[in-house]
Amino acid sequence: MLKVALYLFCLVFLSSKLLADSEWMKRQNNYALKRVQDNISRDDTRIGFVVAATSKSDPNYYFHWVRDAALVMKSLDGYLPWAKKSQLFKNYTEIVLHHQSVNKLTGLGEPKFNPDGTSFKGHWGRPQNDGPALRALTLIDFASELLDHGNSTYVNDKLYRPELPAKTAIKRDLEYVAHHWTNLGFDLWEEVKGHHFYTRLVQRSALKKGARLAGKLKDPDAAAFYESKAAEISRSLEGYWDDSKSYIVTTLGGDPSEGLDYKISNLDASVILGAIHVDDADASFSVVDSRIQSTFFKLVDEFSKLYPVNQKFSGVGIGRYPEDTYYGGNPWFLITHGFAEAILKMVKVYRSQGGLQIDAINKKFFSLFLSDEINIGSISSDDPSFEAVIAKMKSYALTFIERSQKHTAASGQMDEQFHKKSGFMVGAKHLTWSYASYLTLYKAYIDDGTFTDSYGWRSE
Ligand code: NOJ
Ligand code: NOJ
Repeated sequence: MLKVALYLFCLVFLSSKLLADSEWMKRQNNYALKRVQDNISRDDTRIGFVVAATSKSDPNYYFHWVRDAALVMKSLDGYLPWAKKSQLFKNYTEIVLHHQSVNKLTGLGEPKFNPDGTSFKGHWGRPQNDGPALRALTLIDFASELLDHGNSTYVNDKLYRPELPAKTAIKRDLEYVAHHWTNLGFDLWEEVKGHHFYTRLVQRSALKKGARLAGKLKDPDAAAFYESKAAEISRSLEGYWDDSKSYIVTTLGGDPSEGLDYKISNLDASVILGAIHVDDADASFSVVDSRIQSTFFKLVDEFSKLYPVNQKFSGVGIGRYPEDTYYGGNPWFLITHGFAEAILKMVKVYRSQGGLQIDAINKKFFSLFLSDEINIGSISSDDPSFEAVIAKMKSYALTFIERSQKHTAASGQMDEQFHKKSGFMVGAKHLTWSYASYLTLYKAYIDDGTFTDSYGWRSE
């Protein structure tokens, strides 16, 4: 018995050697960048169309999902020369304007579109109101870049013009979000009808950033209106923290007559994805909010026990939520990447804040990577123990990357999921969002500034 325990210990210990070496990471980054671009404006789709994956059967993902497309386009930030980037984003703007005005079953919350530009009219969970918010967030960044380059004409023509009814892409989405954020809708996994934390978090961020853009573009009443709606959403978000569970629940209210009704735990990794997708260090529910960190802990704890593959290798593959049955319910690349990215973004915020805080709510989160006794209190960046904690956090982030590497094909191929028992890839092949999530993770990895930047992706 003792021998077996010792053997298991050694196995776990030895296999925890980091695989996430810089060469692999760089190669994977180049591969992901190529794959993402290959999935935009393909020969058999409309210009600007982003396919969710190249697979046309089991499952058929040859559609433009509003959510995936917005996140995929955003993942290109910092990776392309301006001339190339602006062309890609202008194409994307054209398809957004088209999707907003084309005939469809619901309004701007319509989730997906066919390659010929028509809306998908089959049975589906709709509306999905994270879509317009994510789309606005991506285009707001583009509009700001255009303004920095002195191109206010394009912004005024296509992206944001102070007029109602709105005819420009960002303004339409912001008006929709501001007027409909209290409506019931389906979650980002397209399964549950209710009021979702992820959706509200991205809606608040879109309105806040939209208000800033409106202010810049001489639309002060709209700016004030969007700000006031963002403040209302902020207040509603407080209700998602469940003190007795020690995590942020994913859905409140709801309508079980449509969609799933077996998601009993109400625990969902999308809470962490929301925090990294909005990347808003000053607002509530940022990556360093103790409630986000406590939820992170719960998810890691849950998935490390739930998936047998997590007992085989070091690091933890993360899935959508414990009760998931889609393809049997497995860890996903994009979520596992998101967890690494969340840690790296925390490091960045702690550095810029000049310290970190451990309290009763996030104490368990710190126990994920600190083996010593953890004391409640603040650690300032002058304190020598600060760097020690940061170093542990970064190594911990690498364990998620290492897990992703383990399940990635030698070619660099990443599908949607990896099997919870065998570890082999399952679900949509070459999922565009898997690659996009790798790009944003890699950027966070480099952006901490303390990693040796021997990759040179900025100059490529
Ligand atoms: C397709 C959706 O995209 C996926 O998220 C969901 O799990 C399955 N349908 C099953 O409802
Ligand atoms: C299923 C995922 O649950 C959903 O979030 C995504 O939009 C679609 N697949 C397309 O990738």
